[in-house]
Amino acid sequence: MNGQSETLLKLMEAVSNKLIANEKTLTDLDSAIGDGDCGNSIKKGFQAILDKLPSLKDQSPGGILKQIGIVLTSTIGGVSGAIYATAFLRAGIKAGDSETLGLQEIHEIMQVALDGVKERGEGTKVGDKTMVDALEPAVTAFGEAACNVGDDVASLLEKTLEAARKGSDRTIDLLAKKGRASYLGERSKGHRDAGSVVICLMFEAAHDFFTKEV
Ligand SMILES: Nc1ncnc2c1ncn2[C@@H]1O[C@H](COP(=O)(O)OP(=O)(O)OP(=O)(O)O)[C@@H](O)[C@H]1O
Ligand SMILES: [Mg+2]
Repeated sequence: MNGQSETLLKLMEAVSNKLIANEKTLTDLDSAIGDGDCGNSIKKGFQAILDKLPSLKDQSPGGILKQIGIVLTSTIGGVSGAIYATAFLRAGIKAGDSETLGLQEIHEIMQVALDGVKERGEGTKVGDKTMVDALEPAVTAFGEAACNVGDDVASLLEKTLEAARKGSDRTIDLLAKKGRASYLGERSKGHRDAGSVVICLMFEAAHDFFTKEV
């Protein structure tokens, strides 16, 4: 197993554990303006990833990302499941067979995953009150920081996380234009979007992983 594959497997373990531990938070948020299934769906999908990771030791980083996408396709149903799966599948395809990826390549991979989310969501944009409101600024911040902070991954992820959190904060006042929350119209205002919190938790786990464990 190469160094980056090992790091990615450990990172995905940390991300999965963080999401599973926050099931109730996600359920509560999705209950306010959705159908309340977000926490349970995420738990199901990322528990399946935890179960799958040990069998991916011989894969390249791209192979690992693709397999994660496949697991998500078969475990999280509905629109959101397809969106998460698309993000990981496209990321894996973009990573290809490379054994080692630089920060610029990782940024391009994140950008492709974001484009997949927006496309799979049928033209989702920043301002629609979805996960894109956290993910797009995070990807932009990662790209900018990758040019400025060099190899300081902890500082890079701090800026990325900060951008995701600010984007998630902005969803509170927005009117939902996509997903089930959009059925509520004006009543969707005043609540934070659950998917934006999923994105924040992912980057929080990544930040903590690279700050504390590597
Ligand atoms: N069209 C979309 N584009 C991007 N993100 C979306 C879209 N629709 C929903 N989302 C995100 O998915 C989150 C809801 O995830 P959840 O797992 O609860 O799915 P859902 O809306 O109940 O739909 P389903 O059960 O069909 O997957 C929302 O908070 C939002 O961030
Ligand atoms: Mg839901």
